[in-house]
Amino acid sequence: MNFEPSKKMSIFPPAIFGELKAAAVAKQATGATVIDLSLGSPDLPPDERVRQALSEQSALASSYGYTLGGTKRFHEAVANYYKRRTGVILDPETEILQTMGSQEGLVHLPLAFCNEGDYVLTTNPAYVAYDAGIKLAGAIPYYMPLLAENGFLPDLNEVPEEVAKKAKLLILNLPGNPVPAMPSEEYFKEVVAFAKKYEVIVLHDAAYSEYYFTGDRPASFLTTPGAMEVGMEINSLSKSFSLAGARIAYFVGNAQMIKVLQELKSNLDYGTFGPIQEAAAVALDHGEEITDRLRAEFSKRHHALMGGLSKLGWDTTPSAGGMFVWAKYPFDMDDKQFVFEAIQKAGVVMVPGSIFGTAGEGYVRIALVQKVELIEQAIEQLGKMSVVEA
Ligand SMILES: Cc1ncc(COP(=O)(O)O)c(C=O)c1O
Repeated sequence: MNFEPSKKMSIFPPAIFGELKAAAVAKQATGATVIDLSLGSPDLPPDERVRQALSEQSALASSYGYTLGGTKRFHEAVANYYKRRTGVILDPETEILQTMGSQEGLVHLPLAFCNEGDYVLTTNPAYVAYDAGIKLAGAIPYYMPLLAENGFLPDLNEVPEEVAKKAKLLILNLPGNPVPAMPSEEYFKEVVAFAKKYEVIVLHDAAYSEYYFTGDRPASFLTTPGAMEVGMEINSLSKSFSLAGARIAYFVGNAQMIKVLQELKSNLDYGTFGPIQEAAAVALDHGEEITDRLRAEFSKRHHALMGGLSKLGWDTTPSAGGMFVWAKYPFDMDDKQFVFEAIQKAGVVMVPGSIFGTAGEGYVRIALVQKVELIEQAIEQLGKMSVVEA
């Protein structure tokens, strides 16, 4: 049978992760040690109490019905976690909405709020799911550059007036992927003022909120005065609680916006498996203890990688948090070509910066997903690399 995929399928960029994996497997087959620092999938196991809860709940015959969304137990656990970690008080019934991982929520978000031709303000580079959602909704992305002179925060003053007026949504991600910039209270105040002036809905993606290496936890957007009027935050258990495969995340914030998303979701899915919700609630209940362990480990990795790369003469973006290092390699070579060369010659797998936007050309994203010893070995292997220039 002949058929054509829909025109909309052209929205989605070809996935590079499969190609990276194939190159890594081929390299490994030669007997080389391959160190994979590409995918941001946490390598630490989920807390034992979380796995136990999932196992116990899964054993119950009563656990297999539709949940039709977040359970009371999950919503209350989110509200308690937010209150303890950020001081933000949320109504569990109206200000929280569970999603099947944050990717699901992010891709559907523009569909809930944007009409064709509305602008969505996002960054270059940015996490790729934002673009997918914007384009699926027929909205137009406006890319704000992340520049070193602005601490890699998008400069809202540089958004042209005619774009700001037509913008419906602003998506931010701090600490960010792929650029691990950190939020500040001052910056979030500017965001609220901008959102009010132009009536733009703000969505802050806080997937890496528990990844910080100095004293202070990155501020929740919702702690900013006025933030609850203009927007929401999305947070996920994937990264902070090593539950990436369980697919559980949540929106928190403005009740009217949450209601619209809930309406959309009630037409798309019937909720997350109950035992996953219970396990996630257990994780949130022990959030401080679990994420303290995570931070202790990831800080060591962060310092090992940053220190090692700087000794090799790579230019890294300084950051006090996030799950990635964003680095400019010292070879005059296209980033896509470079990552395959790095697999071939050094056995180290990284992601080319340009998949996150044109501003990523010449950079690589390196995930802190291996133990310190392997990160040190990766540095050593990269150090031996001499690239034949393009
Ligand atoms: C910034 C950011 N947001 C959201 C996600 C999606 O995570 P999940 O769908 O597992 O919650 C990712 C995953 O890498 C991410 O980097």
